[in-house]
Formats: sequence, structure tokens, C-alpha cells
Amino acid sequence: MRVKSFWGCALALSMTLPVSAQMSAEITVHENDGKQIIPKEIYGQFSEHLGTCIYGGLWVGKDSSIPNIEGYRADVFNALKDLKIPVLRWPGGCFADEYHWMDGIGPQDQRAYMVNNNWGGVTEDNSFGTHEFLNLCEMLGCEPYISGNVGSGTVEELAKWVEYMTSDSHSTMADLRRKNGRDKPWKVKYLGVGNESWGCGGSMYPEYYSDLYRRYATYCRNFGDNRLYKVASGASDYDYNWTRVLMNKVGTNMNAISLHYYSVINGWDQKGSSTQFNENEFMRTMGKCLEVEDVLKKHIAIMDEIDPAGRVDLFLDEWGTWWDVEPGTNPGFLFQQNTMRDALVASLSLDVFHKYTRRLKMCNIAQIVNVLQSMILTNPEGGMVLTPTYYTFKMYNVHQDATYLPSDLKCTHVKDAAGRDVPLISTTASRDANGVLHLSVSNCSPNESQVVNVAMDQLKIKSASGEILTSQHVYDINSFDQPNVVKPAKYTGAKVKDGKLSLTLPPYSMVTLEVK
Ligand code: AHR
Repeated sequence: MRVKSFWGCALALSMTLPVSAQMSAEITVHENDGKQIIPKEIYGQFSEHLGTCIYGGLWVGKDSSIPNIEGYRADVFNALKDLKIPVLRWPGGCFADEYHWMDGIGPQDQRAYMVNNNWGGVTEDNSFGTHEFLNLCEMLGCEPYISGNVGSGTVEELAKWVEYMTSDSHSTMADLRRKNGRDKPWKVKYLGVGNESWGCGGSMYPEYYSDLYRRYATYCRNFGDNRLYKVASGASDYDYNWTRVLMNKVGTNMNAISLHYYSVINGWDQKGSSTQFNENEFMRTMGKCLEVEDVLKKHIAIMDEIDPAGRVDLFLDEWGTWWDVEPGTNPGFLFQQNTMRDALVASLSLDVFHKYTRRLKMCNIAQIVNVLQSMILTNPEGGMVLTPTYYTFKMYNVHQDATYLPSDLKCTHVKDAAGRDVPLISTTASRDANGVLHLSVSNCSPNESQVVNVAMDQLKIKSASGEILTSQHVYDINSFDQPNVVKPAKYTGAKVKDGKLSLTLPPYSMVTLEVK
């Protein structure tokens, strides 16, 4: 096996890793105890008018020299199609609460201009609007999740947007949609009533927002057989009071409440480089992303207390890593690179999310292209790379809508520099609708390979095959010059003996296997 060592001993740190020739871990999968389906929406995505997420990322326009399908960047579209995206949130983020949807309909060259005050102060020409977004969702086969403007928009504006998108009546809004080229209404299920209403979405107190939510939601109607699923703008991270107030004051007037949690390790002013980090920062990233479990538990406990019947769902509709922007790029564009550290944040986070799907029904990683922990990076010259995070999502797709199989895990734990407990192995097992059992295992040790012994309660394992995602150096990236540095490869480290499986996993690696 290839020996890898963490880079930059000059930067190395105070964290203590156990010194052993070979660390080992034990996983016991309870393959007959599966009760909960992992909703595919846990694999949701988020797109915002921010940097080059929309313009240059998803959309280049029909006249672009970059190959496109009706204006959508062809290479990006095809890569996203492969990813089986279940749901896509749009148009923000902070942008949503300054977005006036009527600016984004009608002939593209006649649409209103605006300045994107949240993100870089650039001119937004609204050439990507409601039709372009909803048609993209139809083409990708995913549910749209519209984020409505409560911060600076009116009740009338949001009510009319819903009517424009979903009504088949002869009304001014439905007829306007027809005039703009779309006869039949779209199906729109998920409607966010505001975003981060405690911050960029209006700096509100939870009591005030609760009243506003009730008012806005009242006028967002179900037209025909379209059934809206209304999502209240929820808490940031550790703001449990926000959840408590909304659960008490809005209650079952909302179908779900959202939550945002970003893995920021150094503070918002100096988030650190996406590619230059030491062991300390690597482990603190693992610790911070795993802390989402405690945050989820606490929000869910409040929801359970106030809504024991479980009628309100929880959506984690923004999550992921947030690093300093790449040197030389617009600070307002949030463009960052992506390494195996990010890929592991994705696998570890998904492993956590899978455990809480009794209440947690949707998660949307931020963001789909060119912003924060992206699936895809593009450049204006027509270059495109799939990030290590893209590959985690692709390899994890097998768990979408599969039955979650609980497991016991014994492995080495370390403390990160913030004192958080970090198990060095993470896992998910599931059985899909065809009865196929899949196992994902991540080794988040920065230095040590690990042997992971896997047993099932009853099943005698006969074989295991699949892929591994890792890299030679932990800081390796896929760049426009070298787009294939980090990518999945056939996994050859599985051995089966006496009905049990033994996996050898190099440092910072993840495997997904079909187990028979
Ligand atoms: O994803 C970037 C920003 O992070 C979003 O616009 C906002 O909702 C959050 O603060």
C-alpha cells in the first residue's frame, strides 16, 4: 500500500495521535434492523446568484461560445445529471431577500438590472430567472426549492410568484406566464418563506419573524393540485432560542423549519486556506463538521418537546466548508478550492445526517457550482473540474432512498485542538430498493492507514467491491490544468474471510462498497 504522510511538519501541531503500527476498527452492521429510509433530499443542493454559481457556472446563455444546452453549460449540466440531484434551492441565500422575481421574467434582453449588494456589488442582469431555473430543474429531474423574499419583498409579491409558477387558471399571473412562453404551470413543492431572517434576511427577532411568517404563508396558495410545502427561515448553528420561538409561535403552520451550519474553524475573519492547512486545522475541521450532530440533536430535542407527533420537519438547507477565497479572486464571490479534507467533511456529515432522518428530511450543501464547498468549478475559458466533494456525493448516491442499517462502531478517537472528540472512522450502511447492501467507510486519520473489520449480525459476507476516493497528498486538488488528480479508483483493499470483511484504508480516504 502507498505510504502517505501529512505535509508540512513545520506547521504540525499539538494534537496527539496514537502511535501504533496499524490502527484498527470494528463495524457491526445490524442488517435486519433497518427501519428508516434515508430521504434522497438529504443530498439536496443549493444555488445562489453569488459569484459565478449561476452566470458562468450553471448558465452561459444560448449565444455563448461555451457549449450549452438552451443556455445551460453543457458540461456542468451533464455532470449534474450524473449526480442525481434530488432538489435544488434557489435564488439564495442572502440574495433571495433582495430578489424581485418580476425582474427575471420576459425577454431576457429587456429585463431589469440591479446591483447584487450582497455579493461583490456586481451588476445582475436577471437573464437567469424563474423560467430558466424551473426549466433547469425539470431537465435535471429534481424538485425546485424556491426561497421567497420576505426581507424586502411584499406579501403580494410572494403570493403572485406562487400564482405565476403554479396556477393553471385564467388569472393575470398565469396568463403572464403563458405570454412568456410557458403554458402549463410548473410543479413547485418547496417554498422557503425568507432566508436567515435573523441576519441578511431582515435582522428580525424570532417573535417578529414568526408573525411575518404566518402572514406571508397565509397568502401562498395551493393552486390546482400543486401542494406547497412551506419552510420557515430557521436558526443559525447554536441559536436554539430561534427554533423554540418558531416552534411555539408558528407550530404546524410550517411544514419545516430550516437550520444553517457551516464548518468554519478559525472565525469569520480568517477562515483559513482551502488548500494550505496543517494537521491541527485538518482535525479541527473534522471536529467542527462532526459537531453538527450535537447541534442537530439539540434542535430536534426542542422540536420533539413542542411537536411530539413530528409534524414539522427539519431542513439543514445550508451546510459545508467555508474557507478564505482563492487568492486573487473577488472576495464577494466565495470561490474556494476543494481537497480530500472537504470530501471527508461531506462523507462524515452525510453519515451524521443519515442518523437523524426521523426529523431531518432535507439538507442542501452550499453550493452547487463555484461557491463554497462546490460540486463543480468552472472558468470562463470553458474549463470545468469535478471536485473531491462531487465524488463523495456520487459515491454516496447509493444511499439515496435506501433503508438505513444501524451499525456499531469501535474505533480510535482523538481530541482536536478545540477539545472535541473525533472518531477516526465514520460509516453508513444501507439497503436499496433492490435489496443491495452498500457500505461507506471513511478514514479521517491524517497520517495512519487503518484496518476496518466489518461483520453483519447474520449475513455471512461473501464479497465486497467498489471504489475508493483518496489522494497522494491531503492538499491535492483538481485544477483546470490537472482536473483528474483526485478521483475514485477501483478499491483493492477488501479481504473476505469466514464471512467477515477486512478493509485496509489509507489515511484520508473513503470507500463505498457493494457487500454481498
Ligand atoms: O451560502 C452563502 C451565504 O451563507 C448565504 O447567502 C446565506 O444564507 C449564508 O449566510
